[in-house]
Amino acid sequence: MQNYKALIERYDKSNMLALLHSFPEQCELALEIALRYPLHLKKKTYENIFIQGMGGSGISGVIVKDLLQNMCKVPIVVNNDYALPEFVGEKTLAFFVSYSGNTEETLTCFRKARARKASIVCVSSDGKLAKMCRNCIRIPQGKPPRTMLGFLSLPLLVTVARAQLLKKPLALNSLPRFLKRELSGAERAGKKLAKNLYGKIPVIYAANSYQSLALRFHTQLAENSGMFSHWNVLPEANHNEIVGFKPKEKSLAFVFFRSKDETDRMQKRFEFTKKLVSKRSESVEIWLKGKTHAERLFYGILIGDFASYYLALLNRKDPSDIKNINALKKTLSR
Ligand code: PA5
Repeated sequence: MQNYKALIERYDKSNMLALLHSFPEQCELALEIALRYPLHLKKKTYENIFIQGMGGSGISGVIVKDLLQNMCKVPIVVNNDYALPEFVGEKTLAFFVSYSGNTEETLTCFRKARARKASIVCVSSDGKLAKMCRNCIRIPQGKPPRTMLGFLSLPLLVTVARAQLLKKPLALNSLPRFLKRELSGAERAGKKLAKNLYGKIPVIYAANSYQSLALRFHTQLAENSGMFSHWNVLPEANHNEIVGFKPKEKSLAFVFFRSKDETDRMQKRFEFTKKLVSKRSESVEIWLKGKTHAERLFYGILIGDFASYYLALLNRKDPSDIKNINALKKTLSR
């Protein structure tokens, strides 16, 4: 078994490991902040929910969509662009999520939505967004955005429930306790996964209702580990991508996130796809623990976060370093 102690000392310069270990406490605090926050929403019937954010902040919109779309009374639309969709207006509950509060795509859409009189709730730690928005849920400052996922996503879920847009109660109370219990197991699973994926191009598959998990793992592999990967969801990938599998593709390693809430049809799809790729490449199955959709999703996210962290160390990279993103932001600010 790889001894990570020296690698942690050498490469994890901002102590990302401590932030990973405190994720359950972060979720506990995020739920408290979201429940306590004095929301100033006009009493009206919303016709849709709009969620805007980019990168480590934007993933929160996809999480909300995964977890709420089958129990929400109105459609949820996630946006990661400068352009604000035409439907956003007075009957929209609009969320703008930016950890720094200075992300230009998010600020551009925020200004347009405000002009169209949407009901706006922001989640941010600082910056222009926190200054401009009356309804801003403020979260702790000064960390890499992607390590603040509990703060960035849970307040959105709670706010949708508080706006009475859900058909059944949101079951999130047990989430922090569940994550505390599973933390060390998830870290062990993440280390094992890191070993499987080291030196490979990971190809990540999850069911459509766990899309945010596959996307999050892909983005964490890029930002933390400095690795390129590919992700997709079933059933969609069964209608195109499986034809493109090449024989003896040794550089790829497939990861299947599996869950006990899969239907019979989905189980057959996973089994078929796994068999197809296992002839040619390595493949790993990760079974998601948890009683609720939210527990299973965040459990998978924890495993992926730990795997990306340990892969960063194996790749001799500081997991907090995002050189290319910073260089681009600097170029755009000139
Ligand atoms: O992880 C990161 O640092 C990025 O993905 C950022 O989250 C992204 O660039 C958007 O910035 P912010 O989260 O401050 O809106």
